[in-house]
Amino acid sequence: MTVLEGRALSKNYRHQNRVIEALRGVDFTLEDGEILGLAGESGSGKSTLLKLVAGLEPPSEGSILLHGRELSYRRTTEEYRAMQMIFQNAPASFHPRRTIAESIAESVHNLRGKNVPVQNDALADMVGLPPELMGRYPRQLSGGQCQRMAIARAMAVRPEILLCDEITSALDVSSQAQILRLLADICRENHTSAIFVSHDLAVIRCLCDRVMIMRNGSLVEEGSAAQVIQDPKEEYTRKLVDSVLKI
Ligand SMILES: Nc1ncnc2c1ncn2[C@@H]1O[C@H](COP(=O)(O)OP(=O)(O)OP(=O)(O)O)[C@@H](O)[C@H]1O
Ligand SMILES: [Mg+2]
Repeated sequence: MTVLEGRALSKNYRHQNRVIEALRGVDFTLEDGEILGLAGESGSGKSTLLKLVAGLEPPSEGSILLHGRELSYRRTTEEYRAMQMIFQNAPASFHPRRTIAESIAESVHNLRGKNVPVQNDALADMVGLPPELMGRYPRQLSGGQCQRMAIARAMAVRPEILLCDEITSALDVSSQAQILRLLADICRENHTSAIFVSHDLAVIRCLCDRVMIMRNGSLVEEGSAAQVIQDPKEEYTRKLVDSVLKI
């Protein structure tokens, strides 16, 4: 079953009297429980695609459908709950003067209802942290702990889809891999679908079911993560794989 669909999505930005075509008619689907990787060179439109899906910006053309229903730019509370974005800079995504528990409670109460209890211990456990860290302020956590808490906050509202834009690029290499693996496990256990934007094709190959490769605002190739990365059809994908493996 398809959870999310993008049809002919385009986005033009105007900058100093120039039009930048950040996205040029992209069609894609995300299936129930699927983890979809999104890769491509810098500036290819990956973040733009996620911003349109999350409703942070309106598309210039095209439509986004959730369970087959077209979404308008102004989302309902239920639609906000269904799609949760996790950002690269986790500390900045939390209110500096609220404890993590307070921030999570605010999100749950806004999106699921005032009387819905928050299971702090279970959430901390889900992301592999001791429950007492819930009472801390964001600046009292390490970058990796804060990113785990951002995952906990997203999962606390029981989303159907997680949108993750390079969420570990601010962390050291070993915590990057740990957190992405944790996130993939959480998605599989909760049957949550996800789009992972990552430069790391090795990570995509390990954790994602399918991958889409973008270039210059268009999709150039897609398929099972293993197949696209091991045996790319397009020259561009081949170069991308080579350049990443060299690093
Ligand atoms: N608000 C904006 N105004 C003008 N141009 C923008 C804006 N946001 C993005 N762009 C341009 O749109 C194109 C796509 O940007 P986008 O951020 O989607 O790329 P990306 O694939 O996420 O790159 P990266 O891997 O570097 O994060 C780029 O050329 C970028 O400069
Ligand atoms: Mg980006």
